[in-house]
Amino acid sequence: MSRFLALLSVALAFAASTDAAADLPPIPADKTTPIHQRLSLKGPKAISVGWNTYEKLDKPCVSYGTAANKLTQTACSTSSETYPSSRTWSNAVTLENLKPATTYYYKIQSTNSTTDFFLSGRSAGDKTPFTMNAVIDLGIYGRDGYTINNDMSKRSMIPTIDPSLNHTTIGRLATTIDDYELIVHSGDFAYADDWYLKPQNLLDGKNAYEAILENFYEQLAPISGRKPYMVSPGNHEADCTEVLYHQGACPDGQSNFTDFYVRFENNMPTAFPSSSSDNNAISKANMAKALSKPPFWYSFDYGQVHVTMINTETDFDKAPDGPDGSANLDGGPFGSPGQQLNFLEADLASVDRSVTPWVIVAGHRPWYSTGGSDNICTPCQDAFEKTLYKHGVDIAIFGHVHNAQAFKPVFNNTADPAGFNNPEAPYYIVAGGAGNIEGLSSVGSQPNFTDYAYADDYSYATLSFVNKTNVDVAFIRSSTGQKLYKQTLYKAHNTKFVSQ
Ligand SMILES: *[C@@H]1O[C@H](CO)[C@@H](O)[C@H](O)[C@H]1NC(C)=O
Ligand SMILES: *[C@@H]1O[C@H](CO)[C@@H](O)[C@H](O)[C@H]1NC(C)=O
Ligand SMILES: *[C@@H]1O[C@H](CO)[C@@H](O)[C@H](O)[C@H]1NC(C)=O
Ligand SMILES: *[C@@H]1O[C@H](CO)[C@@H](O)[C@H](O)[C@H]1NC(C)=O
Ligand SMILES: *[C@@H]1O[C@H](CO)[C@@H](O)[C@H](O)[C@H]1NC(C)=O
Ligand SMILES: *[C@@H]1O[C@H](CO)[C@@H](O)[C@H](O)[C@H]1NC(C)=O
Repeated sequence: MSRFLALLSVALAFAASTDAAADLPPIPADKTTPIHQRLSLKGPKAISVGWNTYEKLDKPCVSYGTAANKLTQTACSTSSETYPSSRTWSNAVTLENLKPATTYYYKIQSTNSTTDFFLSGRSAGDKTPFTMNAVIDLGIYGRDGYTINNDMSKRSMIPTIDPSLNHTTIGRLATTIDDYELIVHSGDFAYADDWYLKPQNLLDGKNAYEAILENFYEQLAPISGRKPYMVSPGNHEADCTEVLYHQGACPDGQSNFTDFYVRFENNMPTAFPSSSSDNNAISKANMAKALSKPPFWYSFDYGQVHVTMINTETDFDKAPDGPDGSANLDGGPFGSPGQQLNFLEADLASVDRSVTPWVIVAGHRPWYSTGGSDNICTPCQDAFEKTLYKHGVDIAIFGHVHNAQAFKPVFNNTADPAGFNNPEAPYYIVAGGAGNIEGLSSVGSQPNFTDYAYADDYSYATLSFVNKTNVDVAFIRSSTGQKLYKQTLYKAHNTKFVSQ
């Protein structure tokens, strides 16, 4: 019997029971009740507040101010979007002209909303130390998700393990909320496309897909509603291949990054204006802004760091989820031919290292990974690696492989002889161990420039920017908070515009 038939027979058994149906959350009586709150750095003095509602809002509004009892300012938009199979609308409002690095209180306007708060972004050039977390491949917990028991490495065990109601990584992000200022999550949210792994869902795929997204973003809201949560796409935002009836019958909204695009399009930034006095930098930053395509590729500045988010899924030659890609998903394109790579070149060339000494790139699929060639995205390496090296990117962050990995600075599969002491090549990490229904990937074979690899439990990375020359990178074990690994990268950062 095929795996699908086996699952189907379990599903039919479930159909006779009361549990057979998607786990859709109840719709609140007040349909303007905000859910899925999320924040993003939208500009040098701007924060975007995003949230969903169970009805379209004509005029989404947010009240805010620097004291909880004085929300004297209001910002509104007309941005309230949905797609055919969704039950919710994605709203976004930008709060402008904020004082930098200042605590603001905000309340999404609804008869049924509460006041929360955030720290506004640090101005480019502010050299105050801070920590940014990298949390990638993060799935739902609960009925349709993984458990906190550390025995999820085998997919075949999933239907037999009781779901836990707690998520170790989201829990750790909550208990350490004062230790970091923002999060990058470059791809794979919720794992809603894995709905078919739970027999209850097999006869109700379209609703199960939406139910998992709704529950996941509600689980994330205590984190994403408090800290800028910067996103880019992964394959799970477009996967239908795991659904055996995907030929023409993939649930609406599941393909082509539909939910991801609608949810984050107006939430993520384009590219910040240059803070450099150099005319070429100003013009390159303007070019990058024109070529950006949020939430797929874009950039932002935060204190001493410039972060560029890339899309490893579509929009370059043989991109894995594109029309000529290995995943056979026919996703995108989201820009004109060459647009993403032209953006990346202009964006990295615009960075004045005397203002933001650190340059970080984050994407989903790695081209350096343990576990052999299946884990390596060669078209990504062909498309992006030379540009990252040319402009002296300091750290490149990826996920996709479900564990924690760090590599000594490397270019063209060859370790930089300087190691961590002022290398020219980027330092690569994989922070894909946040936890999801697919479990962890074993470490497997290790390239000889591997610095660290861990797949025993769920984890995420922290990047602590100490000053112009030092950054400390660590992996945290989600269940215990233990620091599993720590490495310091030293970069002199004496060249204003790096081109090598
Ligand atoms: C108000 O919000 C809470 C929490 O989000 C929700 O559970 C409740 O149903 C809402 N009440 C109404 C009247 O919509
Ligand atoms: C989840 O974690 C919280 C905080 O650690 C705890 O208070 C709560 O009891 C846990 N819930 C379950 C169902 O384990
Ligand atoms: C995917 O979405 C983009 C943006 O809406 C669109 O341009 C593109 O044609 C879509 N691709 C497919 C295969 O439907
Ligand atoms: C990368 O290494 C290969 C040999 O492994 C060499 O042929 C090629 O020229 C190198 N490319 C660059 C850009 O250094
Ligand atoms: C690492 O492996 C490559 C080939 O896979 C080899 O050329 C190189 O010498 C090795 N480096 C070290 C330090 O062992
Ligand atoms: C940066 O921090 C490191 C580690 O604390 C310290 O040794 C170094 O002197 C600092 N450099 C500058 C330029 O402040």
